[in-house]
Amino acid sequence: MSDQKKYIDKNKDKFLNELIELLKIPSISADSAYKGDVLKTADAVAASLKEAGVDNLEICETPGYPIVYAEKMVDPSLPTVLVYGHYDVQPPDPVELWTSGPFEPVVKKTDIHPEGAVFARGACDDKGQMYMHVKALEVMNQTNSLPCNVKFMIEGEEEIGSENLGWFVSRNQEKLKCDVILISDTGILSNDNPSITTGLRGLSYVEVKVTGPNRDLHSGLYGGAVANPINILSQMIAKLQDENNKITIPGFYDKVEVLSTEERAEMAKAPFSLDAYKKALDLSDIHGEEGYTTMERNSIRPTLDVNGIWGGYTGEGAKTVIASEAHAKISMRLVPHQDPDEITELFTKYFKSIAPASVKVEVTPHHGGDPYVSPTDNPGYLAASKAMEETYGKKPVPVRSGGSIPIVALFERELGVKSILLGFGLDSDAIHSPNEHYGLFNFYKGIETIPLFYKNFVELKK
Ligand code: BES
Ligand code: MN
Ligand code: MN
Repeated sequence: MSDQKKYIDKNKDKFLNELIELLKIPSISADSAYKGDVLKTADAVAASLKEAGVDNLEICETPGYPIVYAEKMVDPSLPTVLVYGHYDVQPPDPVELWTSGPFEPVVKKTDIHPEGAVFARGACDDKGQMYMHVKALEVMNQTNSLPCNVKFMIEGEEEIGSENLGWFVSRNQEKLKCDVILISDTGILSNDNPSITTGLRGLSYVEVKVTGPNRDLHSGLYGGAVANPINILSQMIAKLQDENNKITIPGFYDKVEVLSTEERAEMAKAPFSLDAYKKALDLSDIHGEEGYTTMERNSIRPTLDVNGIWGGYTGEGAKTVIASEAHAKISMRLVPHQDPDEITELFTKYFKSIAPASVKVEVTPHHGGDPYVSPTDNPGYLAASKAMEETYGKKPVPVRSGGSIPIVALFERELGVKSILLGFGLDSDAIHSPNEHYGLFNFYKGIETIPLFYKNFVELKK
C-alpha cells in the first residue's frame, strides 16, 4: 500500500469530522442574513489550507464575498495546478422536507451509499468536494509526495453567478498563472462507473413580470372583462415550447452545435438505464425534446424551464381575486456556440411579441454564463483518466454534463487554460434539493484520486 493510501486510511475519521465542522456553517451566499456565516466559512477554509501546509495564504477582498487564495510553490520550473472550488451553498429551502437539519450534518446509510453518506447542505456541492482537495494536499505534504506547484482559489459566490470572481481573475492574471485548472464540482455516472465531465451547459436566466389592472380586483365584479395576468403569463409560458417540446423562440437553435452521428453513438455507450432513472424519480414516463435520448436531452441540447412562478392568492382557503401582477423566473440552459446575451435578447423580444395588448410585460435578465467543452486528448484529461483508472480499477468515460459552472469558460478566455472537471458526486446526491448528501466512498475516493492526478500530470508534462 502506498504511503498516501496509508495516511488516508489512518486519518479517515479526522477528515470526516473536519468536513462536518465546515458543513455546520450556513454559508448561503444568496441570503444576506447569512453574511457573517459566509465570511466565517472563508476563514475556516483558509485555516484548513494553512493546516494542510500551504506557504502563502490570502483572503482576497472583492466587492462581494472574499476569495480564499493559497499556494505552495515547490519549484518554478515544475508545472502548476490551480484548484478551483466554492465554499458558498444554496439556500436549504424547503427546510421542512429535510429529515435532519441542513446545517446539522449526520452520517446515514442509503441504498446507493451503503458505507454511509454525510447529509447537509453543501455536502456534495461543493464543500465536500472542495475539501477533498485540501485533504489531498495534506496527504501529499505529509508523505512528502507533492510533485509540483499548487494554487487554490476558493470562492464564495458560485451559487449566485460568480460575478466577483470574474473581477478577481481579470485583475490577477499573473498570480493565477498555471498549467491546468482542477475542479471537483461535478459528478460521476455511478460508483461503479467512473466518468469525467467534458462539457457544461451555459445559462441565460430571466425574470418576467406581467402587469394587468393597476390593483387587485374582485374576480366576480371584473372577471372575464379584464386580462388576468396569471392566466396570460401561463398562456405565454405555454407558447415557449411546441408539441414536440422544441423551444419556439425564433433564432434560439440557430447556433446550436450539432453533434455527428458518431459522436452521438459514442455518447450512447455510457451506461444508462431508463427504468432505473424513472424509478429513482417516481415517474411513469419521461419527457423532453422529440428526437433525442434522455442523456442527450440533459446534456447536449438546450432547454427552457420555469424555476418559479407566483402571483395572486396562495394562502389558506379561497380568495376570489384577480391579481394585478404575475411573475416567473425562467432559465435556459445553453450548449456550445449559443451566446447567453444573445439568447436573453431573443427571449425578451419574443416574449414581448406574444403578449396581448391588455397587459404590460417586463423582462429582467439575471446572471448568465457560457457553455464549456474540453478535449480528451490533453495532458490534464489523460492525467485524470489514468488517476481514476488507478483508483476505480476501470477507465472513466467522458460525459457531457447538463449543469453549469459559468466561470470555467471565463477561465479559458482570461487565463487561456483548460479546466479538468474531476467531480465525484452522484446525480442522486440531491444537490440544491432537500437532503443533499455526499457518499463517504466518494469523499475518500476523491482524496485518493487527486494526488494521482498530480503525479500523472507532472509525468505527462515532462
Ligand atoms: N456544481 C454545480 C454545477 C454542476 C453540478 C455541474 C453537477 C455539473 C454537475 C454548481 O454549483 C451550480 O449549481 N451551478 C449552477 C449555476 C450557477 C450560475 C448558479 C447551475 O448549474 O444551476
Ligand atoms: Mn457547485
Ligand atoms: Mn450549485
